[in-house]
Amino acid sequence: MDSKEIIGLLEKRLKESRLKHTLGVRDTAVELAEIYGCDAEKAEKAALLHDFCKNLSVEESDFLVNKYEIGQEYLGNTALAHSKVAAKVLEHEYGFKDREILGAIECHTVGKPGMTVLEKIIYVSDTIEPGRSFPGVEELRELAYKDIHEACIKVLDRSIMFVLSKGEKMDNKAIAWKAAEVADSKKGQDITLIDISKTSGFADYFVITHAPSDRLMKTIADEVEDKLAELGVFLKHSEGKNGTGWILMDFGDIIVNVFSKEQRERYNLEKLWGDGEITYFEGTKDI
Ligand SMILES: [Fe+2]
Ligand SMILES: [Fe+2]
Repeated sequence: MDSKEIIGLLEKRLKESRLKHTLGVRDTAVELAEIYGCDAEKAEKAALLHDFCKNLSVEESDFLVNKYEIGQEYLGNTALAHSKVAAKVLEHEYGFKDREILGAIECHTVGKPGMTVLEKIIYVSDTIEPGRSFPGVEELRELAYKDIHEACIKVLDRSIMFVLSKGEKMDNKAIAWKAAEVADSKKGQDITLIDISKTSGFADYFVITHAPSDRLMKTIADEVEDKLAELGVFLKHSEGKNGTGWILMDFGDIIVNVFSKEQRERYNLEKLWGDGEITYFEGTKDI
């Protein structure tokens, strides 16, 4: 499969934001491969395919973890499993045989001892591609173009700090608030949070918003899914992505509802769950 065919496949499998990230990783990896005398074609393919299984649901990921006997510890954790699952799926279901490419895909999330230069390039490119913005990214980019080994160690340090910081588990209110912030960043309208922990047996919070088009509704839903997954909060189940005017996303204790304006008014969840405590997300007007 050549790069063009791979991109065609990715367009069907990945969300828009993930595809953009992937192309950024590809551009960075090819540049680094040329600097460090690596096979640029292999770097391109590994970069394009590294997140091949990133947008699987937990159920799909768990099925493949079991099928390929990847390990029980990967069940329920798509953030950790997607690299290992992708390597297996690409090898067994898409006929990719190049061990160097598969190796770079397999270890791109957490690295491994004794990484090859290509593996380091993919691992680092994933963190510094042009779409990434976090404090220190510029310094890390500069370092990557001078010393890939040092850059790799810095990325590893950063991952360890990130995991440690997650040791303090977020409570459900903080997660619901985060979902509201993310919806707001994608122009979700009139965002409300309802604390239903005392009145419902199935969840603690509803987050509700609406958007003027199906496309914007989907953008909000995708972004909420991605950003909560980064916090280790995974989507268990979702409904209504196909133009029904209501995308319901079940994260377990938090249910995020992205409506069209008409459907929001029709279902009026704020009224239905009026016994719960309603918070209007900062900066939005009352509905
Ligand atoms: Fe990834
Ligand atoms: Fe990635």
